Amino acid sequence: MKKTPLFLTNEKDAKDAYCRIIAQTANAVVASIADDSAYSGPTPQQLKELIKVDDILPKNGLGFQNVMECLSKQILPNFLRTSSTNYMAHLHCPATIESIAAELILSTFNQSMDSWDQSPVATEIELEVIKMLCSLYGFNYEQGADGVFTSGGSQSNQTAIILARDWFCSTKLNYDIKKHGLPENFRKLRMYTSKISHFSMEKTAHVLGLGYESVVKVPVDAQKRMDINILTSLIENDIKCGNIPFLVVATIGTTDFGSIDSVSKIAQICQRHNIWLHADAAYGSGVVLSEKYKNRIAGLDSCDSITVDFHKMFLQPISSSAVLVKNGSTFEALTIHVDYLNRTEDEEDGYTNLVDKSLQTTRRFDALKVWVAFQTRGKDGWSKIISTSMENADYLYEKLQKDDDFIVVTKPEISSVVFRLKGGDEINKKIRRKLIHEHGVVIGQTVSDNFVCLKFTLLNPLITHTKIDSLVELIRKLGKI
Ligand SMILES: Cc1ncc(COP(=O)(O)O)c(C=O)c1O
Repeated sequence: MKKTPLFLTNEKDAKDAYCRIIAQTANAVVASIADDSAYSGPTPQQLKELIKVDDILPKNGLGFQNVMECLSKQILPNFLRTSSTNYMAHLHCPATIESIAAELILSTFNQSMDSWDQSPVATEIELEVIKMLCSLYGFNYEQGADGVFTSGGSQSNQTAIILARDWFCSTKLNYDIKKHGLPENFRKLRMYTSKISHFSMEKTAHVLGLGYESVVKVPVDAQKRMDINILTSLIENDIKCGNIPFLVVATIGTTDFGSIDSVSKIAQICQRHNIWLHADAAYGSGVVLSEKYKNRIAGLDSCDSITVDFHKMFLQPISSSAVLVKNGSTFEALTIHVDYLNRTEDEEDGYTNLVDKSLQTTRRFDALKVWVAFQTRGKDGWSKIISTSMENADYLYEKLQKDDDFIVVTKPEISSVVFRLKGGDEINKKIRRKLIHEHGVVIGQTVSDNFVCLKFTLLNPLITHTKIDSLVELIRKLGKI
């Protein structure tokens, strides 16, 4: 058996093999999508059987053809098909075709974004994309705003929280955390975020040594937005008690409901108390591209930092996310010079080493996907994509509101609708399972006010009103079985 060349090099053999294998893979992927379902249906137990191979690390290699055959038969047909209009479970998007092409390029060249000499043109492109993003969200790059790509919303949030904590301790407590570790009174540090904000807040608080108790969860109002009056009194009471508020995280699109905290009002409170304001816009950041709806996220420019996630509304392959910071010098918290990677003289000579701003060292060139997808479809194309998914949510909400069999939790502000079929928790749970295993439909499930609810996360702009109508009818029918 002829060995597959190891790498794509300048050799003819290697180039031929690269083209053949990529084309063969593309054909196998295309062939595996044989209907419109989102999932082929197997249970976890059935999958364990289906994916069995003799030996994942056999003594002698099987050759790519054999591996591809196994992939085509056993694995590819059972992938979750995120581009199916029957998939609407999570903030987990289908990937645009041009971005998949960009993935191929960035994996082929395997650039690493930590230092310029590992990613010369990639570094320059990431810098340009960050500059464009700063302008998109109202941050002034020329006046020092900055940002960096991350592995996802959780890491973007974590990065912002670290910068906020270090900035606060340095400027307000005259204390250098980077050098000395946590200050003696660290148990008094407090960050505020809504009760339904993303769990990466607590996780980060734990990792930073501040603990869950440092995260004050602010109740939400009937629209699932952070209650501003309660936030104000919680901060004031904490100050009176000797606690130290250093950060508020506003959620611009909560994970389940897509509700948007009132960032302008929160900004006033933060300014009054000299507290960092971070916007977790992992979900809602995409709204900026909709001409029709962009006002819903107005005010992001009053924040100190913003999480922008491209692998949600922006329909990019995982991973692709960025954190933007109004005062880029705060990234210094993450800078550590090492002789082999990011020498100080590099910067002086105009070589940017992006590791200076990042929690990661080796890092993917995810900015390329945004560069490609934004240019490919332009403002018009993207406005239509985002507006369609938001209009679909409005349509579903209006429909369910008028239907006596259903209860809808809140009016959607972005593209998620949480609702339940009347009849109890068990019926709703059973419906979701039946949809997965018997109908190739994958929808979300969550809890609101102690009731199990179903959720449509309508990121996919190919979903039509007819599709929504038929799924609602299917849910009603399954509720009667
Ligand atoms: C509001 C919000 N923030 C942060 C995250 C975390 O993002 P990631 O999964 O990219 O880490 C999510 C994920 O759904 C989210 O909904």
